[in-house]
Amino acid sequence: MRTDLLVPAILLAYSASAQSSTSSALGRASPSSSVPDIQRLAETISDDQLQKVRDVMEQLCIYSWENGTKAQALLEYAYQDFSPFSRTFGNALTDTSLSQSVPDEIIAIARTTLENRPSTSNQSGAALGGVGIGSLLQDGSSADPASLGIAVLLANASAAVGTQQVKNVGWGQAAESELRYLLERVPRNAEGAISHRSEQAQLWSDFVYMVPPYLAYYGYLQSNQTLLQEAYTQCSLYRSGLQDPSTKLWRHIVQGTGTSDPGLWATGNAWAAAGMLRVLATMIKSPFSDQMASQRADLQAWSDEIITAAKARTAKDGLVRNYIDNSSTFEDTAGSTLLAAAAYRLATLNLTTAHVGFANQIHSTVAARHINSTGYLTGAVDPLNFGKQGTYSPEGQAFVLLMQAAYKEYIAGGGEDKTSAAVRLVQAGWVGGIGVSLVLALGSYFEIMHSANLLFLCLSSAMMARDTVAVPAPGARSAPDLTLPSSTILGDDTLAKSWLTQPSFLYDSWENGTKAQALIDFAYPDYSPLSATFRLPISDNVPDELIAIARTTMQNRPSSIGPGPLLEDQSAGDPASLGIAVLLASLSSTAKLDRIKDVSWSDAATSQINFLSGGTVPRNETTGAISHRVKYSQAWAYVRHLPPLADSVSMVPPFMAYYALVNEKSEYLQSAYDQCASYRQTLQQNTTKLWRHMEINTIENNIANDEGEIVDQTAKPDISLWATGNAWAASGMLRVYATILQSPYNEEMSKECDNLKLWVQEIIAGATVWTASSGLVHNNMLNSSTFEDTAASTLLAATMYRLAALDITPAYVPYANKIYSTIAEKYINEMGYLTGAVDPLKFNVMGTESPEGQAFVLMMHAAYRDYIATREKSAEDSGFYSEASRYQGPPPIDTGVEGT
Ligand SMILES: *[C@@H]1O[C@H](CO)[C@@H](O)[C@H](O)[C@H]1NC(C)=O
Ligand SMILES: *[C@@H]1O[C@H](CO)[C@@H](O)[C@H](O)[C@H]1NC(C)=O
Ligand SMILES: *[C@@H]1O[C@H](CO)[C@@H](O)[C@H](O)[C@H]1NC(C)=O
Ligand SMILES: *[C@@H]1O[C@H](CO)[C@@H](O)[C@H](O)[C@H]1NC(C)=O
Ligand SMILES: *[C@@H]1O[C@H](CO)[C@@H](O)[C@H](O)[C@H]1NC(C)=O
Ligand SMILES: *[C@@H]1O[C@H](CO)[C@@H](O)[C@H](O)[C@H]1NC(C)=O
Ligand SMILES: *[C@@H]1O[C@H](CO)[C@@H](O)[C@H](O)[C@H]1NC(C)=O
Ligand SMILES: *[C@@H]1O[C@H](CO)[C@@H](O)[C@H](O)[C@H]1NC(C)=O
Repeated sequence: MRTDLLVPAILLAYSASAQSSTSSALGRASPSSSVPDIQRLAETISDDQLQKVRDVMEQLCIYSWENGTKAQALLEYAYQDFSPFSRTFGNALTDTSLSQSVPDEIIAIARTTLENRPSTSNQSGAALGGVGIGSLLQDGSSADPASLGIAVLLANASAAVGTQQVKNVGWGQAAESELRYLLERVPRNAEGAISHRSEQAQLWSDFVYMVPPYLAYYGYLQSNQTLLQEAYTQCSLYRSGLQDPSTKLWRHIVQGTGTSDPGLWATGNAWAAAGMLRVLATMIKSPFSDQMASQRADLQAWSDEIITAAKARTAKDGLVRNYIDNSSTFEDTAGSTLLAAAAYRLATLNLTTAHVGFANQIHSTVAARHINSTGYLTGAVDPLNFGKQGTYSPEGQAFVLLMQAAYKEYIAGGGEDKTSAAVRLVQAGWVGGIGVSLVLALGSYFEIMHSANLLFLCLSSAMMARDTVAVPAPGARSAPDLTLPSSTILGDDTLAKSWLTQPSFLYDSWENGTKAQALIDFAYPDYSPLSATFRLPISDNVPDELIAIARTTMQNRPSSIGPGPLLEDQSAGDPASLGIAVLLASLSSTAKLDRIKDVSWSDAATSQINFLSGGTVPRNETTGAISHRVKYSQAWAYVRHLPPLADSVSMVPPFMAYYALVNEKSEYLQSAYDQCASYRQTLQQNTTKLWRHMEINTIENNIANDEGEIVDQTAKPDISLWATGNAWAASGMLRVYATILQSPYNEEMSKECDNLKLWVQEIIAGATVWTASSGLVHNNMLNSSTFEDTAASTLLAATMYRLAALDITPAYVPYANKIYSTIAEKYINEMGYLTGAVDPLKFNVMGTESPEGQAFVLMMHAAYRDYIATREKSAEDSGFYSEASRYQGPPPIDTGVEGT
């Protein structure tokens, strides 16, 4: 099991300096370390959950910067008219409708601040009529109290309370006193940077979130360009002082004496990026925007620089580490979350969508794993102890709101112009600057689905992407309602029945192969590379059921030795699906010496491999794709044009990979990968990224024999985006990925692994764009007039669960859950048949039975079970999940299974 899902405990590298830095902070109990809890499996942050996050934020915020960040989070999340990021931002001083609506919550924060304000900040500062020049709050930091300045300015602008005084000081006086304190009193370093600390000049990256946005907001309200310029200048000076030239990331604390933290602290970088973007947003809204074009360009570049550098260093699940370049530090949810907010803001400001993929990944991970059911952000750095993970983080609570606010605005942004902006370009950048863009449906998803066949999506053709996969965040596609129709999971009885259903016809090769695969996934996961318990070599006996499948195959095998398929078949690919069963038989302690029709298991497996890779099966000369069909082998001129078929990816490469593992031949792992690559190259539609079913380049040749007769109707090109074909392809590639991962060659093939992960997700992401309201996909995925196919949907759901169980991404679990419960509720009849499945022999009509569909049900359930097993079980789990927590192992299917 891949327990690194659970971010483990923590290194104390910076604790010494952190301790000293927090000695001034009031004595909050400093928790030792914690493992973030996975209490909930929500993959999106629901409104309900966000309310809890907000309530917790309310309870936790105590310090000046916490209250200031809280105020900012509220403005961005709930009162956008007062947030410069928002389209509806307006000037509360000049717009009476705004001055009348300054929110009470913000006024309350300002009031608390003024109540806590020292009454005589500086006795000698008589210039302000007795209020003095001084900080809003008494604080070791000269910067943190400024974070509350915007709330005070808004109270000042309020029609309701603007004229009030608190402790004999007006809001405007307090704000001006704070401003002058910053500009005139606070120590500066040699370059002119205003210190973060009141007693000496010291630079902290935190400053950039606390002070420049206040200066800018002040400048905006007063139409004072000097202040906007000063906000910019301070950002610039801080960057010069803090930036590490090699990584471009910012150090946390430099200069001065005492506390020092030269590390590239995640939250510090997030403060800086998010702070500079607030300044930039304010500048854009000001009347000086045009005059300050170069300043705007700088602020954009500087925030982008931080995010780009952080993005290049994410950990496996998309989060950044507490010290971004130090892989021995824990993954910090707080800094990551604020970085995600900033990345979304670059998009909502129309500056770049290149980092949306990065943000989405963090968003999904945080939503899925790091907000517990009480509403706490878990796995966050202790804000008072920079080097350590804490049990809670007040500012982290606010970051969740900031991220969600930015995300929502990002999503809503495309909906602005409903008449023309039916689609929006979401560009998800990858490391190395290779991007891919998905145009995601906006506005009414279903309208688009029904009206637009021309969902044009622009994609970069270069697909050598790695690291971060552009996983659209939940909701990014205006997805269908993912409410589960029921909390049903399939019971053991139903599963057993599904398994035992007999089709009215004999199973074909790929059906038997898929059945073997399902059986392995479901009942004998030790032999499935997708499973956490996979192990090879096998020392004990291989289950009889699997040997029986292998034995039947061998009995049906054409009797030649040498390169040849396991079964005589029009398809070159399908018989390979049985190869894994044969390989397992060759390892069995009881059966390995058996020879069937005088052929050993391993000779049969090797002869299948040689058949595929030895030139007998036609290949495309350019891509090297091995044809799925052998039918025209007497006529090379024809066969070389024969098609790759998406199905083949589920039949051939997983077998090759398994063969490589059993025989310790890494070249077959490479072949398995190469086949996936060339099939994708040929079959992938460059717009939707979904795969066509078959590609035939010279149609006439393929369907006609030498005499020109039509000989094979099924060889007509099926260039539709057939749902089952896509499911085969995604599922097959994920098996290859998992097999490589389980092999000793996983390190050297990490690039291949990255690509496979990406390719699987391309299909899965594409599929989720096109689901019907039931959660199922249509048989021809883009054509909503074709029926909803249960078979393909089921295999897609299996793959979605596997993506989560393999710790690749949890983003598709809600889709899988939707499919699962729809299938469980409506499409398994009393006899255990999967209904509503495509006829596997006709592709385009619904059939009455689907042998492969039966196998998909087991695969889906097995994947679901394995996914659940990677999660901590909790008494708080409810509904769908609690059912699963009670799952007690596979149903009793060990005897009497057909095929034995
Ligand atoms: C922050 O807000 C809380 C809640 O209103 C309040 O109790 C606390 O005194 C405030 N902190 C400061 C430094 O003003
Ligand atoms: C108070 O203000 C005067 C000038 O107005 C200044 O010289 C002095 O340093 C200030 N004291 C503090 C503690 O800020
Ligand atoms: C802008 O603000 C600065 C700092 O408070 C002040 O010195 C200057 O006079 C202001 N300029 C205008 C045009 O109001
Ligand atoms: C972004 O661009 C869209 C479309 O051009 C426009 O409607 C919107 O106002 C822009 N947003 C910002 C923040 O500039
Ligand atoms: C959520 O996390 C907080 C802070 O660590 C903790 O106090 C609370 O008990 C957690 N909630 C649950 C349900 O575990
Ligand atoms: C081989 O595949 C490439 C890429 O899909 C295609 O353009 C070409 O026509 C194929 N060649 C043959 C002979 O089918
Ligand atoms: C996608 O394919 C179409 C036609 O097949 C082609 O015109 C277009 O240039 C391709 N686009 C990309 C980005 O490769
Ligand atoms: C598939 O398995 C069934 C049941 O064991 C068997 O009757 C059939 O011959 C097999 N099909 C092939 C092509 O081997």
